[in-house]
Amino acid sequence: MALTSEKLSERMGSQVHIDKADLLSGVHAAELRALLDQRGVLLFRDIHPDDQELRTIARTLGELRIGASKRGADGRTLNEGDEGLIKISLDANVNPDYAKFLPGNYLWHMDGTYEEVPPLATLFTPYRLSKTGGDTMFANTYAAYEDLSDEEKAQLDQLRVVHTMQAALFPVMRDVTPEDFAVWYSYPHRSHPLVWHHRSGRKSLVLSTSGAWIEGIGQSESHDMLESLMRHTTQDKYVYRHKWQLGDLVIWDNTGAMHRVLPYDRESGREFHRCTLNGEEPITSPARAMALQD
Ligand code: OGA
Ligand code: MN
Repeated sequence: MALTSEKLSERMGSQVHIDKADLLSGVHAAELRALLDQRGVLLFRDIHPDDQELRTIARTLGELRIGASKRGADGRTLNEGDEGLIKISLDANVNPDYAKFLPGNYLWHMDGTYEEVPPLATLFTPYRLSKTGGDTMFANTYAAYEDLSDEEKAQLDQLRVVHTMQAALFPVMRDVTPEDFAVWYSYPHRSHPLVWHHRSGRKSLVLSTSGAWIEGIGQSESHDMLESLMRHTTQDKYVYRHKWQLGDLVIWDNTGAMHRVLPYDRESGREFHRCTLNGEEPITSPARAMALQD
């Protein structure tokens, strides 16, 4: 059956109508990849994928990420994701170590900015919802870049931002211990261009709460600039806010979008299952892309 879709908001997100069997078989995979790139978020309703189905759908779209590079409070590498699937829950009984990192999801972010090649996309499906909070919001970083003036673009195209785990987590954590700091600090500081010149030729802002400072300029100027870009990019016109229903499958682009979840109660039992697709290209700056062309 042909695939149809409609916009969830003007500049972010589309709901896609497709048979579950077609989703599992991958017949429309190329079309879905293209739509994900264009729309940032794809919503499928009434899919109810189990873990195996979630992995199968993921594999039709890209390379399923196995394992992850997070470290637990005692410094050991976490094995979450070894089955190609992570349970996202604040309940330490569901996901003992990972739960500690999750409050970071309350702030606008991209996943894996401490990696050289950040993940391409995430497939996300609810198992239990929270009665309050728990909506997930998505902001289109292509559109936010597109709307800047030529002058602003020329300036930002040259800049690089250092991303750190401390910057991502400190603002949302209370009673941080030296041990917490030590774990966060064990992650590499990663410098990325502020503007991503994608292989497709499109450009997006690389923004995330993990963005600690802009290289080569003073601290207060760097802080103000990142804050102002964050405010620009998270304006309503670039954002889609998703209210979850059981059965939903959402796929978000992690290369041209930021996301966050609205705070929910740790006791709510909110639980999602997630598969991640490996990234396919490093973040290349417009300046570097130009040099490669010459
Ligand atoms: C994530 C994330 C948001 C949510 O899993 O990376 O940001 O709605 N989740 O739980
Ligand atoms: Mn996330």
